[in-house]
Amino acid sequence: MPIGSNTILEGAQSPVSVARPFPIMTAAEAAEHVFNGATVGFSGFTPAGAAKAVPRAIAERAKALHAEGKSFQIRVLTGASTGKNLDEALGAAEAISWRAPYQSSKALRKQMNSGKMQFVDMHLSHVPQTVAEGFFGPMDIAVVEATDVTPDGRVYLSSSIGASPTYLRCAEKVIIEINRAHSPRVSEMADITILPNPPHRSPIPIFHALERIGWPFASVDPKKVIGIVETDEPDDVAPFAPADETSNRIASNVVAFLLDEMRAGRIPPQFLPLQSGVGNIANAVMAGLGESEDIPPFLMYSEVFQDALVDLMERGQLRGASATSLTLSPEKLRRVYDNMDFFGPRIVLRPQEISNNPGVVRRLGVITTNTALEIDIYGHANSTHVSGTQMMNGIGGSGDFTRNAYLSIFMCPSFAKDGRISTIVPMATHVDHNEHSVQVVITEQGIADLRGKGPIERARTLINHCAHPAYREYLTRYLEDSPQGHIRHDLRKCFEMHLNLMESGQMLPDIDLKQFV
Ligand code: COA
Repeated sequence: MPIGSNTILEGAQSPVSVARPFPIMTAAEAAEHVFNGATVGFSGFTPAGAAKAVPRAIAERAKALHAEGKSFQIRVLTGASTGKNLDEALGAAEAISWRAPYQSSKALRKQMNSGKMQFVDMHLSHVPQTVAEGFFGPMDIAVVEATDVTPDGRVYLSSSIGASPTYLRCAEKVIIEINRAHSPRVSEMADITILPNPPHRSPIPIFHALERIGWPFASVDPKKVIGIVETDEPDDVAPFAPADETSNRIASNVVAFLLDEMRAGRIPPQFLPLQSGVGNIANAVMAGLGESEDIPPFLMYSEVFQDALVDLMERGQLRGASATSLTLSPEKLRRVYDNMDFFGPRIVLRPQEISNNPGVVRRLGVITTNTALEIDIYGHANSTHVSGTQMMNGIGGSGDFTRNAYLSIFMCPSFAKDGRISTIVPMATHVDHNEHSVQVVITEQGIADLRGKGPIERARTLINHCAHPAYREYLTRYLEDSPQGHIRHDLRKCFEMHLNLMESGQMLPDIDLKQFV
């Protein structure tokens, strides 16, 4: 659908045609506008496109005020996790009282797990609507990274879209970081539209992963822009470590499973769009798909566009990708920016309520691959809370995709911490994705296809195909000895492995850890 002809969606706010020069200011001057208790919406979906100089300056301001014995903390919203310039800097300064919707910061993890900071763990597709409807109260300030802003309020975002279009629309005041490190041509990938609030919604007209329905810019009322801060800093996305043997074995199991599905005719010959979670395993899976000669060139309808996909696209194995961020290490991002004629038409960057939209995911028949911390023998997956209590990162987009997938796959190594932890457990200590949504589980040990199986068969399949052999006997005994029921559980023993871990540092203290080396 050509730009401007969209009558079904409300689209980006029409720019107001009032020429208005925006003052250039330093990050420290911009930070002075952020008051104690303010709700601030920052750009950033992963470190890609995250505001950088202003959050660092806010952190400095917080430290100075704290040293004077004054209170200063803000409420922080972003698209998703960010990086050292935002979450780590503000976290180290203890400048955040409340955080949503996702993070992966060591500093914040410590504060939320010790009760010093509130964290709202959310499905990422819900964020824009939640803010627009005022569920979190008013947004005082938005700080958004862009490559350009025009006097009439067109904001050309940088390497991520995330929730920035909504933050620009909803915030009372706006600060824009113009980052010269990005190619101005990155906006050729942007496809921005904002869904109207219910009940004024029509179907989202995306019938193909690369379909464009919006505008290459977000919009802001120029009267709200307090000023512009100029920067020249690359996104701090770390390159991936080379895949280890476990990740490679998980990747080849995923490829084997998908090939079997194709042979059985359950995946059509032209394949279906893929979604991939983030991290080393996901990266190895993508690389593995690219190396398989039997997987046809495919499309992605996913959340982040990460390193392995650059190579796949150049080789023609990846035909195109819809995402909300270019989460690329500096070298890979440079390769994309230097070859925009090639990459530009093949990548669409959308706001997160569209990239992760449940209706579109269901319509396109997306095959989803996400990672869990632990999965119980009945197929409930815990992606977020270690031992049910310690927040790791958050659910992110994994629920948006899993719940609505054509085929939902969960992956993890069968063990963690050198074998002291089994990731296959009797009962998950926290459930993010339940038995109704998790269809296939894959570890380096094998594949558990849970479709069409009742609980007991699911448990046997998961134990025998996915658990590490060192844990199989315990899990089988747990299953067979538990009282009869539709789902068999012994409520006195279901967390025995976790209690052992707490008490002795090992889920099964008698296991010889040498076998995991
Ligand atoms: N109990 C305790 N710790 C565990 C564990 C378990 N069952 N399973 C893994 N861990 C630890 C690992 O040992 C590792 O610890 P370290 O950082 O000290 O080395 C850490 O958790 C991360 O595990 P790793 O195997 O390196 O996996 P990962 O980096 O792929 O992350 C998740 C796994 C689940 C944390 C991550 O995928 C996540 O946050 N998922 C939720 C959000 C999501 O799915 N986003 C994508 C949607 S589009």
